[in-house]
Amino acid sequence: MRLGDKTIDESRQGEALIVDSNGKGKKLFLESYGCAMNFSDSEIIASILAEDGYSTTKEEKEADLILINTCSIREKAEERVRNRLNSFKKYKRHNPSLVVGMLGCMAERLKDKLLEEEKLVDLVVGPDAYRDLPGLIQKVEAGQKSVNVLLSREETYAEISPVRLDNSGVTAFISIMRGCDNMCSFCVVPFTRGRERSRDPQSIVAEAQDLYNKGYREVTLLGQNVDSYKWNIDKKGVVKDENKPVVRFAELLEMVAKVNPKLRVRFSTSHPKDMIDDVLYTIAKYDNLCKYIHLPVQSGSSSMLKRMNRGYTREWYMDRISAIKRIIPDCELSTDIIAGFCGETEEEHKDTLSLLDEVGFIMAYHFKYSERPRTLAERKYEDDIPEDVKAARLTEIIAIQRKQAASRTKTHVGRVLKVLVEGPSKKNPEEYCGRTTHNSMVIFPKEHAEAGMYVNVKTHDCTTNTLLGTITTQEAEA
Ligand code: SAH
Ligand code: SF4
Ligand code: F3S
Repeated sequence: MRLGDKTIDESRQGEALIVDSNGKGKKLFLESYGCAMNFSDSEIIASILAEDGYSTTKEEKEADLILINTCSIREKAEERVRNRLNSFKKYKRHNPSLVVGMLGCMAERLKDKLLEEEKLVDLVVGPDAYRDLPGLIQKVEAGQKSVNVLLSREETYAEISPVRLDNSGVTAFISIMRGCDNMCSFCVVPFTRGRERSRDPQSIVAEAQDLYNKGYREVTLLGQNVDSYKWNIDKKGVVKDENKPVVRFAELLEMVAKVNPKLRVRFSTSHPKDMIDDVLYTIAKYDNLCKYIHLPVQSGSSSMLKRMNRGYTREWYMDRISAIKRIIPDCELSTDIIAGFCGETEEEHKDTLSLLDEVGFIMAYHFKYSERPRTLAERKYEDDIPEDVKAARLTEIIAIQRKQAASRTKTHVGRVLKVLVEGPSKKNPEEYCGRTTHNSMVIFPKEHAEAGMYVNVKTHDCTTNTLLGTITTQEAEA
């Protein structure tokens, strides 16, 4: 799991048990693209529409309402959605009352373009307007155009209890904030998600507790820059209400860690410029705070990082890595890399390769730079690295990263690791799988393991990203 990544960049549709509360009996097909935040939003959308009497279906052809929750992060992500929207035309021919809606980041970016000019959708709803969905759908049913792409400074959907669309029943996402106030020059997110705002910590803790009570054993706290989470204190550091505690990310982590020692806590995404030692000490203090940090670096070159407007240098990033290694010795790291950003020299690219070697990430997501409309980079720099050079650099990045991942994974062979069982492995249902605190997938013979249980697994072998082992004890003590 992570933001804007390949694991969940792939389309996924969810089915949930939704009570048809007012007998409307309509069926919703909801498909999500993009980052974990979008998948988390889809659970809020499903909740809002369940209240309005919609039940979800996995069969797009039997739907009365098709909603696509979209991503704009790279051009390819948008192309995929366009193709998907085109493929729904055939259902419209059979069922003229079918409503097709585009939600999420592409909706925010393109506004009514796909409705007015291309007639691909009936409904366009941006990320901060989901409470309006029932009314907007009614408008479409009454034959009117229906668009709401207003961004909000306050909306966090804090009290909406999401309908869990992932059927695992073991792991779940919790949104802790929305939007982003950074202006990385390559990134479209500030334009599609609006200003940063944090969610009431009590509602976050209550959601984690509720998930634990329902049998979930892992939550991932989501935000574009979790280190910038703040409650009861403004952006200038002024406390809003002296009688109430200030909650920053370290405190929030501690509050969620205390929900139950058997509830694992992950988070994504940390920002190198804002990650402070307090957060690291808190992670070290609690066993259930997972020893895995996703810390996107984007480039290993300080001059490139300046053009990217990331707010740190290579030296600063490496200092953060040293702090992690010092404060949380048994911690694994992952990152994001962009290949071929504007003006990238061969030397700057080599700096990225050397950083990958120096840090040793267990996992990295790597992307070819894709120019996005309205971003600082689009206005200021030329997208001048030829496609074949971007591709060649990406190949070099992948080769080095694969070696590093294999060598990091290998360090966990021969250990007894506490694994949270997720269920049968995809390849062989006789075998089960689960993750370690370091986020490594472990495959082992099922024995008595059940989803949601902690087991100790002795590892004996590995592939690049996966550990193989056998259960030693059924339920881990700690
Ligand atoms: N908030 C997160 C990133 C969210 S987007 C952070 O700051 O780390 C997820 C990843 O997509 C980014 O880390 C970046 O590597 C990649 N990305 C964003 N914009 C991109 C673009 N225009 N072209 C290629 N990759 C991009
Ligand atoms: Fe985009 Fe930067 Fe914000 Fe991440 S921190 S969402 S990369 S602007
Ligand atoms: Fe996420 Fe894509 Fe939007 S990465 S925030 S869904 S642009």
